[in-house]
Amino acid sequence: MYILFTLQKLLEKLKYLIERFKNMSSENSKYINGFKHTLYKSASLSKEELLTTSQQFFEHLDKRRSVRDFSDREVSKKVIENIIRTASTAPSGAHKQPWIFCAISNSELKSKIREAAEIEEQENYSGRMSESWLRDLAPLGTTMEKPFLEEAPWLIVVFKKVYELDESGEKHNNYYVNESVGIACGMLITAIHNAGLVTLTHTPSPMNFLTKVLGRPSNERPYLLMPVGYAKDPNYVPDIVRKELDEISQFYE
Ligand SMILES: Cc1cc2nc3c(=O)[nH]c(=O)nc-3n(C[C@H](O)[C@H](O)[C@H](O)COP(=O)(O)O)c2cc1C
Repeated sequence: MYILFTLQKLLEKLKYLIERFKNMSSENSKYINGFKHTLYKSASLSKEELLTTSQQFFEHLDKRRSVRDFSDREVSKKVIENIIRTASTAPSGAHKQPWIFCAISNSELKSKIREAAEIEEQENYSGRMSESWLRDLAPLGTTMEKPFLEEAPWLIVVFKKVYELDESGEKHNNYYVNESVGIACGMLITAIHNAGLVTLTHTPSPMNFLTKVLGRPSNERPYLLMPVGYAKDPNYVPDIVRKELDEISQFYE
């Protein structure tokens, strides 16, 4: 009986090694330091195609604007899921993916969030913000009132995970958390725009109330509050200009 059991174990090990060897020699993957790496093929466009697609993508994103007046027109959960999935394709320090996207359509929760955000914003506008900050905000027409937090069909609250907590409550490090979550938020905004929807990068400060309202765990910190939906029609946005290429870039050729 014991010999049979040992033989079976040996056979399993052999099968595993054969499988692993097959993988090692396969064209689609190889092992580096004992870890599997898969063959990656990037789109290889011609010079002309590169120029056209990069120009078209710039023109597409150049149309993105922050919107502060939302229609209450519905947006399906599936669309929000796709947008979140897109954001989560972002790179992250040591692939820790230190983010969580909380999507809220529940009107009671949205009202609670609006109420708490307006309390903080009231403090900001009536003393916490410097004169120069208020002067810089004036062209944008922002106020302490945040009706979009109830009007937009969805709010996405992005939390950064400053560390991971496993089931036993032990802490594990995350790396470059701000950079990683910032990049993911950029991709979230791009996905929202690409879907034909609008958002506002909103940062009521401080944002701790979001942890409480949404009952988030101690390793998460609120990062951004993004209303998502359709723009109210008609909609007016501040008439601002973006910096020219030579102001934002320096080429070393
Ligand atoms: C980190 C960050 C925080 C922001 N916070 C707010 C905010 O709390 N309220 C607001 O109305 N706009 C906020 N904005 C939006 C900016 O005002 C807006 O992006 C800027 O005016 C440029 O306009 P555009 O997004 O239409 O190009 C924020 C943007 C960023 C990137």
